[in-house]
Amino acid sequence: MPGPGAYFFGEEERKELLDVMETGYLSRYGKEDDPMFKHKVVTFEKEFAKYIGTRNAVAVNGGTGALITSLATLGIGPGDEVIVPGYTFIASISSIIYAKAIPILAEIDESLNIDPKDIRKKITKRTKAIMPVHMLGNPCDMDSIMEIAGEFGLYVVEDGCQALGATYKGKKLGSIGDIGAFSLNIHKTITTGDGGVVVTDDDNLYERAFGFHDQGHKPYRMGLEIGHRSLIGMNLRINELTGAVALAQLRKTDNIISMLRDKKRKLKNAISGNKELGFRKINDEGEIATLLTLLFKDNKTAEKFAAELGTKTLAHSGWHVYNHMEQILDKKTVTEYQCPFACERYGQEVKYYKHMLPRTDKILGRAINISVGVVDPGIGAGFGITVLSDDKEIEQVAVKINAV
Ligand SMILES: Cc1ncc(COP(=O)(O)O)c(C=O)c1O
Repeated sequence: MPGPGAYFFGEEERKELLDVMETGYLSRYGKEDDPMFKHKVVTFEKEFAKYIGTRNAVAVNGGTGALITSLATLGIGPGDEVIVPGYTFIASISSIIYAKAIPILAEIDESLNIDPKDIRKKITKRTKAIMPVHMLGNPCDMDSIMEIAGEFGLYVVEDGCQALGATYKGKKLGSIGDIGAFSLNIHKTITTGDGGVVVTDDDNLYERAFGFHDQGHKPYRMGLEIGHRSLIGMNLRINELTGAVALAQLRKTDNIISMLRDKKRKLKNAISGNKELGFRKINDEGEIATLLTLLFKDNKTAEKFAAELGTKTLAHSGWHVYNHMEQILDKKTVTEYQCPFACERYGQEVKYYKHMLPRTDKILGRAINISVGVVDPGIGAGFGITVLSDDKEIEQVAVKINAV
């Protein structure tokens, strides 16, 4: 199981699901005056917003859907540039492409998150938004990012898909920028198999996000609302079954995170005596501890170390690295998706090519992920522990690392 939420699927999820099964109301909308209608999706949205500390949340079909909704909500479109890190899941980039906007790739720093200094360098008169991605559960340097956004009048879309529950200076991620996106896929803090959430404090943005996710309707629509729909939306809804699981999982989030933190602390302590080993920079202790990232002094040492553990450095770990995103590495492919809004139309010659972010390449070449809660070779975390590992297992993994 990739985890961590998946490890906690149990009686509570079953109970919530049965509740829905017995009523027959499967859609998020139902008869308000019928006590059989259980409002799982709406209840989940309310509890999720409260958990994150925003006024509003909209449940959608996935993290990708949440990002697409966020960009549409902000009105980001043709000709706009959005600055996004070169180390992220493809969805951060593809959501910008499907908004018909231009992803501008930025370097990461040793936190493995977007480097605020490089954001400044990438700003042009067309820049409309910054998309900080809280990679591997670690908060971005949000103070610097919000300062830049304020200075240049940019939107901030937080991609919190890998960091549900993490905090930065006491605030939950997703609540700091204009809008935040989360994923409930199988690799995430909590999971519904697939699912996502958009959060925002701004009621106008909320109304737009809700409308985008459901054919332009107003929040908590009842009836058809003909004559009241202010925008053209899509259908990215989730149903009551997903809402039921989401609700049960959400109520376990803090427990899952505190277990992750406990396991990570034990593993880190057990290998910290080794002078050869460094760690990625953690921007705030509110990180959710899904992964332990080792950072070596050079690529050669990291590669040797990874090979002996039977894993890979992040540079070779797969699809979160822009160098491996063959979908975008050929500019023609990106402009094809943007047709008829090709970059040329706006005089934007934006190219994506291998090794265009040398600092990112260097850092990823020195880094290895050890699993704590997310067990996923696709993110370079095929070796390590799980959220349920006991002290003995943690010790065994530490012994292996120390031996190498
Ligand atoms: C950083 C990031 N953004 C977006 C997504 C997309 O989420 P989903 O798979 O739910 O569409 C993911 C999923 O892995 C992710 O890690």
